[in-house]
Amino acid sequence: MASGALIVHFEDETAAAQRLANASRCPLRCVERHCFPDGELRLRLPEPLPRLVVIYRGLQYPNEKLVELMLAADTARAMGAEQVVLVTPYLAYMRQDIAFRTGEAISQQVVGRFLGNLFDAVMTVDPHLHRIQHLSEAVPLGERAIALSAAPLLGEFISRRRPGALLVGPDAESAQWVASAAATHGFDHAVCAKIRHGDRDVEIALPKLAIEGRQVVLVDDVASTGHTVAVAAQLLLQAGAQSVDLAVTHALFAEGALSLVREAGVGEVWSTDAITHSTNSMSLAPLLAEALLPLLAC
Ligand code: R5P
Repeated sequence: MASGALIVHFEDETAAAQRLANASRCPLRCVERHCFPDGELRLRLPEPLPRLVVIYRGLQYPNEKLVELMLAADTARAMGAEQVVLVTPYLAYMRQDIAFRTGEAISQQVVGRFLGNLFDAVMTVDPHLHRIQHLSEAVPLGERAIALSAAPLLGEFISRRRPGALLVGPDAESAQWVASAAATHGFDHAVCAKIRHGDRDVEIALPKLAIEGRQVVLVDDVASTGHTVAVAAQLLLQAGAQSVDLAVTHALFAEGALSLVREAGVGEVWSTDAITHSTNSMSLAPLLAEALLPLLAC
């Protein structure tokens, strides 16, 4: 068993995991993964494993990846790891935080408990916490449920590309990220009101403030189908915005979403590398590495 710590990652996230390894000066190895014709998985962890194993796995399109984590965390412990930490820049299932109808799974709690049972610490970025204050209310690991925010990074980035912009969040939930991004350079900011009627059906009302002639940057945690951003952008342009761009932490962008957003009139789309995507403009590696250091030192 080697001493120290090791980050292990999956092949499709090599570039982002390498950036984290470089920033945290921690060695990196890849998990060997085979998917059988019937969909079952075989994983093989690198040998030897040190005392502390950090598993890097974003949970976009999460269902198969949750099984990967179950196999990997358990195997790491069987191989002698004393601490197994999950770094998941995008933490899935956080939006379903309430049973809107009887019988609905409260996925945030179910998935949170699942991860809390597997790992000694879970670190993520801008999880969609709406009705709870702290990640530990979903992932029961106390202070070792670590939620970082990319909002200041978005604010810094926007200040270089659109100084003087008006930052707009497309719904009430985005207020936390918009306010935090705006605070970096004192941007004007506001949020819309949104009603979601279905996956691809949202109704938005603009905030009551002057939009005519403003360069607007929409700020949100997640862009998925793109409908939220598309509807907000169309309304902002109709209200006279000079331009509408998008800064988003998690570029989920389901099929067709980016085209929809562009057709709605959005100019630039800037995202962090929480999810690998063609719009990635900001690296989370320094933020993650800084938060990881105290854990690596334990
Ligand atoms: C929801 O409140 C989130 O912050 C996003 O606004 C939402 O998930 C975006 O979804 P979509 O792109 O599918 O409209």
